[in-house]
Amino acid sequence: MNTAPLQGIKVVDFTNVQSGPSCTQLLAWLGAEVIKIERPGKGDATRNELQFDPNEPSYYFLQLNSDKKSLTLDAATPDGKAILTKLIEGADIFIENLHPGAMDKLGFSWEEVHKINPRCIYGTIKGFPVSSKFANLKAYEPVAQVTAAAASTTGWWEGDNAVPTQSGAALGDSNTGMHMTIGLLAALQQRERTGVGSFVYQSMHNACLNLCRIKTRDQLTLDRIGYLTQYPQYPNQKFPDYVPRSGNQEGSGVLGWTYKCKGWETDPNAYAYIILQRGAKDFEKACAALGFEDWLTNPDFNTADARDRHKQEIYARIQAWAIDKDKYEIVDLLAPAGVPCAPVLSTKEIMNDESLYDGNTLVKINQGGNIGEFVTVGVPFTISDYQPTYGPCPDLGENTVEVLTSLGYTPEQIETFKANGTTAPLPKVPENNK
Ligand SMILES: CC(C)(COP(=O)(O)OP(=O)(O)OC[C@H]1O[C@@H](n2cnc3c(N)ncnc32)[C@H](O)[C@@H]1OP(=O)(O)O)[C@@H](O)C(=O)NCCC(=O)NCCS
Repeated sequence: MNTAPLQGIKVVDFTNVQSGPSCTQLLAWLGAEVIKIERPGKGDATRNELQFDPNEPSYYFLQLNSDKKSLTLDAATPDGKAILTKLIEGADIFIENLHPGAMDKLGFSWEEVHKINPRCIYGTIKGFPVSSKFANLKAYEPVAQVTAAAASTTGWWEGDNAVPTQSGAALGDSNTGMHMTIGLLAALQQRERTGVGSFVYQSMHNACLNLCRIKTRDQLTLDRIGYLTQYPQYPNQKFPDYVPRSGNQEGSGVLGWTYKCKGWETDPNAYAYIILQRGAKDFEKACAALGFEDWLTNPDFNTADARDRHKQEIYARIQAWAIDKDKYEIVDLLAPAGVPCAPVLSTKEIMNDESLYDGNTLVKINQGGNIGEFVTVGVPFTISDYQPTYGPCPDLGENTVEVLTSLGYTPEQIETFKANGTTAPLPKVPENNK
């Protein structure tokens, strides 16, 4: 029995780059049929971006387009519009992430698509909410991060490197795709009851801001009392009236920091993260594991509030303790005492960790040809009773004939579409024939 949650759901995928494709790849892995529309001769912008070989699709493309079908289609031509209309007639979801206004110009706005197929859910990704003064901006990852409080609150708060800093995590791109997935799944559920497809609008800004929710918590607290006890600036430095950058501070009230470990001189990731929890029992156990029992009777350290005021002394002492220990050894020493801690891991260490190849976390996809096998991150959650499978990414236009045939077009019509620029680029006219 096919237990794929989205079995039978047909997605017309007019997205490219990362935000939209990350969403539609997840839909495909959950069992939907995803037909990716790509411009003839060009395809998704990431196919040819950051390639390791000029003749092969890049790992950028390969990370985001597994298990989709590729249909090359110029949706600006009359035949292209007719084909897209037919596709929409049979679709459950239409999703796009072109620059603001582009889809309206092509004639496939939410209103138009809703007229073509009222059951079809319409997903759209843009940089900003419609109400925003930035609504018409084109957007890439950093645009979301710098406008949604991610960059202004990330990085160092003093010194030469005290600049707004981007997260390595794709808070604006893939995170937006994941948020869009939630919206689409909700709309599918809603359609079960109403019979009508909804318009799902997901901005990169809102997806990123949603992950900065605790920074709005901090702004509210700052507005009330003018300081934030958990921040490294407390108690000795003056706080601005906005949430400052806080280095490696843990995001909540517990006292967490990143510590240099043995080998840091040559390995930039020889660090461990160690957290002291606020509860008295937890602190007692941590002190025993660290050998810092004197803290238990010292009023500067024996309450959580006192520790907030003396955090720099705490950081310094734990740092001195950690410096001659391997980052994994630290976890072995502290974790048995219930201390939340972890080694800082590089991409290499993660991808070499065989325990993560559990069928879901990291997965290997056989792309075939010169690319062979590559590693990607699978569906990030597990569902009992369903095991996703992971197949290759399509070549540009690989499924064009298959999709057009399924729409009822004859081989002659399919040849015409190829010749007239609808599904393949028009041949270049030689200079002397112009
Ligand atoms: C990512 C982004 C900045 C790229 O902008 P861009 O370089 O202008 O590229 P787009 O893909 O949006 O569109 C380029 C053109 O190709 C056209 N096009 C794309 N696919 C087409 C197709 N299959 N058939 C016909 N035309 C097509 C678009 O209509 C557009 O035409 P126009 O400029 O005449 O209006 C922009 O799409 C954007 O801001 N998107 C919303 C936010 C987003 O998702 N960003 C990506 C994060 S990973």
